[in-house]
Amino acid sequence: MFNIQRRQGALILMGFVLVAGQCYFVMRKHNIRQLAVVEMLLTEPQKNVAFIEKEESNAEKEPTSEISKPGSTKELYELMDKYAQAKLSDIDPPFKKILFWNEAYGSKNYGVGIGADALRKSGCPVWQCETSDDRNNVEEYDAIVFHLRSWTQNDLPERRSLHQRYVFWSIESAAWRFVDTKPMTNYFNWTMTYRWDSDLVSPYGYIRPTGNVPLHPNDEQMESYLTSRSLVNYAEGKTKIAAWFVSNCASQSKRMEMVRELQKYIDVDVYGDCGTMKCPRKREEDCRQMAAKTYKFYLSLENSLCLDYVTEKFFGMMHHPILPVVVGFHDHHEKIAPRHSFLNAAYFESIEQLANYMIFLDKNDTMYNQYFWWKPYFEVRNSQEDFNKGMCHLCAALHDPTLPPKTYKDMTTWWDKNSTCQTIEIR
Ligand SMILES: *[C@@H]1O[C@H](CO)[C@@H](O)[C@H](O)[C@H]1NC(C)=O
Ligand SMILES: *[C@@H]1O[C@H](CO)[C@@H](O)[C@H](O)[C@H]1NC(C)=O
Ligand SMILES: *[C@@H]1O[C@H](CO)[C@@H](O)[C@H](O)[C@H]1NC(C)=O
Repeated sequence: MFNIQRRQGALILMGFVLVAGQCYFVMRKHNIRQLAVVEMLLTEPQKNVAFIEKEESNAEKEPTSEISKPGSTKELYELMDKYAQAKLSDIDPPFKKILFWNEAYGSKNYGVGIGADALRKSGCPVWQCETSDDRNNVEEYDAIVFHLRSWTQNDLPERRSLHQRYVFWSIESAAWRFVDTKPMTNYFNWTMTYRWDSDLVSPYGYIRPTGNVPLHPNDEQMESYLTSRSLVNYAEGKTKIAAWFVSNCASQSKRMEMVRELQKYIDVDVYGDCGTMKCPRKREEDCRQMAAKTYKFYLSLENSLCLDYVTEKFFGMMHHPILPVVVGFHDHHEKIAPRHSFLNAAYFESIEQLANYMIFLDKNDTMYNQYFWWKPYFEVRNSQEDFNKGMCHLCAALHDPTLPPKTYKDMTTWWDKNSTCQTIEIR
């Protein structure tokens, strides 16, 4: 497995606001006057994030489903389905050659390994590519993949052929400024990251329908799904409210402060070095199961708040009968997960409001169970194989003669700026 050390951000400064919410059917855009959404260090100023206010329900007002906007864009899982169906045009084409240039997490494995068989073993539909870490004859490779984090100007290929694709690869968020991207001007041809606007999308996970139920049902459909009786009582046997697993409490990140604030109103059991509870990290899946049996809510808090940056902290829990609480300013969870399947703290006015809503759900099993309406109709995909889909797609793309040349003129704008990393301030 490809276990990535993620650290909390030294960079995270501030800026959090939440807008109010109970009822879910009626929403309107909220004009954020005092929203202290402040940029991370080094991030360019950015436009206001759109917040949505969920109002107290007095039911049947016209549904202005701002939050269901993601449904109007193409569903993201469809791209992954497309990747999975990639085919070769030739029956038996010559292998393409991929070079893993620099070190990534202690090896040049890049999640898939080295050799002519690596992509086949990784479950790629088009696997006829040989991966290598041998820098000899560098101009003969069809693609060279560079791990962003250890990229340096002092160690680059000396010769470059025009047919080659240089690939910018990162699995960590853009909040981490490990490397200055300015010298990358006119350097890369393709990007491979968790961002859905990458050339080769490599998400930490996604959620796809297994039948005909849409990921983002319209309001009318939604109402019928929510009011149909759940066969399972997801609240049954749960004795506690909220849990959070955190391995790294160096915590310049405000997520720790958010949890401390939440703890003023409800019990949150913090597992790991920064908390009082223990569950061995090596048995991650057991811990998740334990949490899902015991707790109503799990805090799925990322180390940074950047466009599309949602990791196993979310997807790992979506497998289980527990309700994730996220902080998301980019509507990514809304795009990628079924409607009404998690709580987004960013839509509450304050941590206190969030806590009150959690208390309300804790006391009302019917309302709590509604958040699990989607379970029978969807599958959560976040295996290593899913994660490798970007690498698989690189191989398929190299075999596709119709793809035009491409160059990223300005990586700083694409990565550092357009990732629109946010920071939070607690109120
Ligand atoms: C749960 O909430 C719903 C909607 O607010 C309400 O109709 C119902 O009576 C509540 N049930 C309990 C047990 O409080
Ligand atoms: C890759 O980018 C380089 C540098 O801008 C460019 O010269 C080359 O034509 C590009 N190649 C492809 C295949 O996109
Ligand atoms: C950055 O985002 C803006 C707005 O979405 C877009 O118009 C622009 O093309 C992006 N720039 C790059 C370099 O990707």
